[in-house]
Amino acid sequence: MKYNLITNTDLNPSIICLGTANFGSTIDAASSFALMDAFVDCGGTFIDTANIYGDWEPGAKSPSEKLIGQWLQNKKNRKDLIIATKGAHPAWEALNIPRLSSYDIVHDLNESLTHLQTDYIDLYWLHRDDVHVPVSEIMLTLNEQIKLGKIRAIGCSNWSLERLQEAQQFAAEHGLMGFVGNQVQWSLAKVNVENMGDKTMIGMDKEMYHYHQQTSLASIPYTSQANGFFSGKYSKEIVPAKIQLQELYYNDINFARMARVNEIAESINRSASEIVLAYLINQSFPVFPIVGSRTIEQLEQSVTAVDIKLDEAMLSYLAVDKDEF
Ligand SMILES: NC(=O)c1ccc[n+]([C@@H]2O[C@H](COP(=O)([O-])OP(=O)(O)OC[C@H]3O[C@@H](n4cnc5c(N)ncnc54)[C@H](OP(=O)(O)O)[C@@H]3O)[C@@H](O)[C@H]2O)c1
Repeated sequence: MKYNLITNTDLNPSIICLGTANFGSTIDAASSFALMDAFVDCGGTFIDTANIYGDWEPGAKSPSEKLIGQWLQNKKNRKDLIIATKGAHPAWEALNIPRLSSYDIVHDLNESLTHLQTDYIDLYWLHRDDVHVPVSEIMLTLNEQIKLGKIRAIGCSNWSLERLQEAQQFAAEHGLMGFVGNQVQWSLAKVNVENMGDKTMIGMDKEMYHYHQQTSLASIPYTSQANGFFSGKYSKEIVPAKIQLQELYYNDINFARMARVNEIAESINRSASEIVLAYLINQSFPVFPIVGSRTIEQLEQSVTAVDIKLDEAMLSYLAVDKDEF
């Protein structure tokens, strides 16, 4: 494993971040504990969760956070880990009603602290935006929680570049902490955006990419392996059982990129899944891909990507039609 500083913080997490959206739902408790054990055995220290994760299961409330909390208690390893969680997401039963008031933020944060059985969150994310709430109110609320010691650093997830910049400017002008991380959908695959079910998810684009290059703001992308699109299981001819995968990723640009991923993987004797992560990790700004490994084998194949060096020429070779995200 390798580690990197998140710009403007003293957080130095593992470059690979463990995603836990399915903990307590499609990944049962025993498998969730086993994945976290395996991650730590590989040197992993960075875990991503959210207050809403698992709430889609009937009768469930935050099973992902609660399992992580139990595991931290059992292992007594809280101080060794960088725990990131997200709040202020609309409720699962009312996804069209934003929840980003000061009350919502503080309410969710306090709930997460209880679920995770900790008194601080290393990196607290706002899971969605609500453009009707002024950035001033949001940044003042978050900074108040930082002062209280409940949060070490803050980030935004699924925010437009325009709103992100507005928040950063307000923070800078008022001597407050700005966002230190940006969590959007990003992988080597171009997403067929018109087929995305959840229109409140935001992906990397050309302008946002340039902003990261200019500011060194950390990118902590989700769906970093394009749900396994490049893993070798899929091709133009193979219609995936997961129909969503075809809807989101099947296009000519991605098949051209897949051919190049396979070519580079073969030439350096590594797996395609590793090359796809190495593409992100080798950017000129800090990138910490979140991996949603379903099995320990997938996880072990992902963490080794940190050893792969890809130079500028290789990065541009992989990104066929580079402005298409
Ligand atoms: N902020 C947000 O709004 C947001 C949204 C979504 C996700 N997230 C975060 O990001 C994490 C990851 O997201 P994700 O699960 O959508 O994306 P992902 O990591 O791109 O996809 C995970 C899937 O990729 C496949 N895969 C991974 N490694 C593989 C390998 N080595 N070989 C073959 N297949 C492999 C597996 O599919 P199979 O199951 O088919 O094997 C696995 O279930 C989540 O857990 C969550 O923490 C955040």
